[in-house]
Amino acid sequence: MDTPALCVDLPTLKKNIGIAAAYCRDRGVHLRPHFKTHKCTGIAKMQLAAGAIGISCATLDEAAALTRAGIRNVLLTSPLVGTSKLDRLGKLLTSAPDLLVVVDHPTHVTQLAELCAARGYKIKVLIDFDVGQRRTGANGLFAFEEVARCVSDCKPLSLCGLQAFAGQIQHIESLDERTVRAQAVVERMLAAVAVLKVLGVQYPIVSGSGTGTAEFDLSSGIFTELQLGSYVFLDADYEALEWRDGGDLTPSLFVMTTVISGNQKGFVTVDAGTKALVLGTRGSRVFTGPFCNAVYEPAGDEHGSVTPIGSTPMPPVGALLPLIPGHCDPTVNLYDKLVLFDGARVVGYLPVDGRRAGSYSNLHLSSETVCA
Ligand SMILES: Cc1ncc(COP(=O)(O)O)c(C=O)c1O
Repeated sequence: MDTPALCVDLPTLKKNIGIAAAYCRDRGVHLRPHFKTHKCTGIAKMQLAAGAIGISCATLDEAAALTRAGIRNVLLTSPLVGTSKLDRLGKLLTSAPDLLVVVDHPTHVTQLAELCAARGYKIKVLIDFDVGQRRTGANGLFAFEEVARCVSDCKPLSLCGLQAFAGQIQHIESLDERTVRAQAVVERMLAAVAVLKVLGVQYPIVSGSGTGTAEFDLSSGIFTELQLGSYVFLDADYEALEWRDGGDLTPSLFVMTTVISGNQKGFVTVDAGTKALVLGTRGSRVFTGPFCNAVYEPAGDEHGSVTPIGSTPMPPVGALLPLIPGHCDPTVNLYDKLVLFDGARVVGYLPVDGRRAGSYSNLHLSSETVCA
């Protein structure tokens, strides 16, 4: 095979999908997996077949790719702003009227209300609540209540619940510390849920969570659905955490590389650099095989070094080395397709069809346009 290539161990992927589906089913919590991890409608369909109630996504491009693939019950987890985005949302709603969107400020509510007035839509809305990540989300309970009241008072909008994603704690290594921090998040969320009930939303959707806090969030009793993303691939950053039940998840994603040079003492050079593999905070290692105990570091745009540890032999020139990416989401975003493996056999391909889907077609660019 040509390298570098983004590959998936299919049995492990299916196992991970099944584990999370079973955890959620057993605790009576819905799973709405996050598409930003794999951007692949083929995998989204596997997650739905395993029992997911819908799919979460981060961008309009992703939502469009999901809708084109016939996938419904999509939640867009980032607020949308500006004429261009709202116009695209309007078009999308004609084919996906059940799309759920989030808002975190009265400005978002005004823009959605204008869209509804112009096109006669009704839009389902969650209030995004900042639970410490300081990215999006209403900042504090007063702000949350203000936005929730705006939505509640706006007839074409339907206030369905809240979203709270604690991104800041997903990668804390210690299980005890993650649990304590996740408990504190749940306490903040309880107050926000109470606000929604006062506003008449008796059974609010409470959406959020990530792979790192899923074990705790599932038993917290507050989430009605989890937006887990990375669990399907379990990258090197997540693999390094301390787990309880989540330890059953194992890495399924790897970048296949070839050793192209072996003239240095202590390491070899592979054909995968920063354009092929995105590292997180905890590095990367060889996935499996005789060189399994070896660590990878980028050595430029197109190259990387692999250093065997202890008694691990030095891989020869020409050896194929599968590497677990440090961070799965941005690594997937570098590729057009996933090569599916079962053991050592290639069993198929899946397009990464949610990867910037639509952004080029929107520009109406062709090679002539660029040359002119
Ligand atoms: C809003 C939101 N929900 C869920 C997730 C999934 O998190 P994870 O990949 O840690 O499971 C993310 C990931 O960044 C996210 O931004």
